[in-house]
Amino acid sequence: MAAMFDLKTYLANGAHWIETELDRLVPAADVRPAALHAAMRHGLFAGGKRLRPLLCAACAEACGASRDAALFPAAAIECLHTYTLIHDDLPCMDDDDLRRGIPTCHKVYGEATALLAGDALQALAFQLAAQTPIAALDVVRELAAAAGSVGVVGGQVEDMLGERLPPDEDRLRFIQRHKTGDLIVCACRMGVLAAGGPAAALDAATRYAAAAGEAFQIADDLLNATATAEQLGKAVGTDAAREKTTAISVYGLDGAQRRLHDLIAESLAALADFPGKTAPLAALARHVADRKN
Ligand code: IPE
Ligand code: IPE
Ligand code: MG
Ligand code: MG
Repeated sequence: MAAMFDLKTYLANGAHWIETELDRLVPAADVRPAALHAAMRHGLFAGGKRLRPLLCAACAEACGASRDAALFPAAAIECLHTYTLIHDDLPCMDDDDLRRGIPTCHKVYGEATALLAGDALQALAFQLAAQTPIAALDVVRELAAAAGSVGVVGGQVEDMLGERLPPDEDRLRFIQRHKTGDLIVCACRMGVLAAGGPAAALDAATRYAAAAGEAFQIADDLLNATATAEQLGKAVGTDAAREKTTAISVYGLDGAQRRLHDLIAESLAALADFPGKTAPLAALARHVADRKN
């Protein structure tokens, strides 16, 4: 029997890898303007599962490349994701006080600096993506599409518009696909591009990540309804309080669980079309469904 893939070690090693590199790539907290760089680092180094950089690296590995081939896009996607979290927590959006287990960026540095820290992290993401040794232009193009109005920003707008409206599956699918799915798909596609992978792997990465991304948001909705703030490092029960359109408002708790499991099966089915080792991607997809934070 093949040895079991050790996901716990893979996650810990991967988080250490990307955090070490990000620490090197992001201006130090005493570089002027110090408050801005401190705010960027506050958002970035608070913890976080680092799922998107790990997916990016795992997709490069599934094309036979090393993890380091995907370093720049992996660092870029974590910077871009962190910017979306900082802005998502602002009073004009979800108005949250806790993120990654510590007070949100605007609670510590004020709204204006938090807004600008998000802006600067987004710009840094593109600066890093442009340094990808292979296919940098394609990588930047992927990141721009995922970041924009038909990507994560569009998803965030529909998430806000969906507050206090009757549950609607079409809106839910749009929100899941764009506010969450697009950065996860982008992370995976950038990993393939940075590895110089074949077109079939790019297509497999898209199918794998689209299903895993939707599943990831369903898990987030389930945890918001069922977990504790200590466990998640962020507030819970907030979706219901804000009457958001979520997997639970549309499918109910049991229906959301069923959909989550179907999506993971769909995600795993795409792995056959990668040329290299896919054990990490398989374990990461399963982890999306049973994660506790
Ligand atoms: C939270 O993302 C925002 C969603 C899209 C659900 P993560 O759950 O990946 O947050 P971190 O990076 O681990 O803090
Ligand atoms: C955040 O979605 C998604 C982005 C920041 C793009 P949510 O608002 O549902 O996630 P949490 O619960 O604050 O992490
Ligand atoms: Mg939100
Ligand atoms: Mg939020």
